[in-house]
Amino acid sequence: MRYLTFALAKGRLAKKSLEMFEKVGITCEEMKDKDTRKLIFVNEELKLKFFLAKAGDVPTYVEYGAADIGVVGKDTILEEGRKLFEVMDLGFGKCRMCVCGPESARELLKHHEMIRVASKYPNIAKDYFYNKKHQTVEIIKLNGSVELAPIVNLSEVIVDIVETGSTLRENGLTILEEICPLSARMVVNQVSMKMENERIMKLLNELKTVI
Ligand code: PRP
Repeated sequence: MRYLTFALAKGRLAKKSLEMFEKVGITCEEMKDKDTRKLIFVNEELKLKFFLAKAGDVPTYVEYGAADIGVVGKDTILEEGRKLFEVMDLGFGKCRMCVCGPESARELLKHHEMIRVASKYPNIAKDYFYNKKHQTVEIIKLNGSVELAPIVNLSEVIVDIVETGSTLRENGLTILEEICPLSARMVVNQVSMKMENERIMKLLNELKTVI
């Protein structure tokens, strides 16, 4: 039997992903050691390998078959637009992709004005404004703390993830429009889905019972 390899998104989703696998008897003790610098973890008994990657890289590993299976947020799947099968909504990491800004920016969205939109998700922002709203905007790519942009006048609005809403509240910003709901998803390499169908389907059926 060959190894099935899992790429898990680092950060917020990693702990929840491991908890979910534990519920179906898939454990990887070494991975819980916070001080380890190891990158790949093996469960010899079940012939499984796990690695943690930057969220944005998970779809890349899966498309190329370096990982058979990935666990990553829907935001990253939409942004990366990779060729892979999205097979399951895992139900955790729920949040929303929204257009946010100061209340005063609401009018600018209504009247389709030329505005600047800052985001870590330029492709999602582009798709929303160009294809859904038919509004021409300038997209500015940022790498984090995107809420800063409207505060320091880099942009009129942002496209970003809202989970609890506290980052917005604490910075005097608000949700202006909702783009889509998000959550963690399981994705599978298109060839692995055929070659390892039995093992993957068994895993998906087991996961269904605990989600
Ligand atoms: C995310 C997101 C928001 C925040 C939303 O940022 O970009 O800033 O969380 O969560 P809330 O609605 O519960 O306040 P993250 O913490 O991942 O870091 P970043 O700003 O560096 O991207």
